[in-house]
Amino acid sequence: MKVFHKINPLKDVLNHHRSNSLKIGLVPTMGALHKGHASLINRSMNETDVTVCSLFVNPIQFNNTRDLDTYPRTLEKDIHFLEKLGCHILFNPSVQEMYPYPPVVEFGFGEMEKSMEGAFREGHFSGVALVVAKLFNLVKPHKAYFGQKDLQQFVIVEKMVKDMNIDLELVCAPIIREESGLAVSSRNQRLSEAQKALAANLYKALQLGQQLLAENHDISSVKREVSNFLSQWQDICPEYFEIVNTCTLKTVDYMEDGKEVALCIAAYIGSVRLIDNIIFKK
Ligand code: PAF
Repeated sequence: MKVFHKINPLKDVLNHHRSNSLKIGLVPTMGALHKGHASLINRSMNETDVTVCSLFVNPIQFNNTRDLDTYPRTLEKDIHFLEKLGCHILFNPSVQEMYPYPPVVEFGFGEMEKSMEGAFREGHFSGVALVVAKLFNLVKPHKAYFGQKDLQQFVIVEKMVKDMNIDLELVCAPIIREESGLAVSSRNQRLSEAQKALAANLYKALQLGQQLLAENHDISSVKREVSNFLSQWQDICPEYFEIVNTCTLKTVDYMEDGKEVALCIAAYIGSVRLIDNIIFKK
């Protein structure tokens, strides 16, 4: 695997691959790689000729310095992980390389960023959009791979790609779960075993919500039941549970046959903030 810390040599190699008509796949990450990332890398390796994994903890998408400071950083382990998967290129720039001067560009996504993650993490999606747009411009991938776990992120990136006519195909890959149902996440590394067991109840809460929707319970009673379910554990501090339209991310007031919704949850387990979701259609 070739490792690049600088933009120009990365661009040279990718230009060469592109001139040989090779298809490039990009998997943007912030490192602390796990089997969720492996599924994205594997998919890219199957569907394209050259897989680039970017590993960059993007400071401008964190609205909380403690969250940024404690974000797991495991570069050596990540390099081994990617080598074992057969990934072709790792792009691991410094903050200085990505932001030689403070960026002034900001993105706005209207209503799409007002709810859920956007409501609790001010400026988060502007920061995500800027770094993703930069990565798309630098790598010029044919396909880019994101995980469904960050569903709001995916829908917003998809909107940015459409609005800006960025010429690439986006792939949203399914959530990978532990046996307990806990969605795999880099943040799980900061959980104790007991906290991991507790965190698995977030998926159970989503499953309960899904079951109630399938049984035709109305949205407000589903929300109430899910909230009651989670209130059994005082060490789970829910931030939101929303049922949203998967295209617009607008909160849904009632279920329509054939329309897909996402049940989305965020909660703190100790000081670790976790998110998860399930997509459901009646
Ligand atoms: O999902 C992530 O890991 C990050 O938000 C991303 C897409 C790599 C941008 O920093």
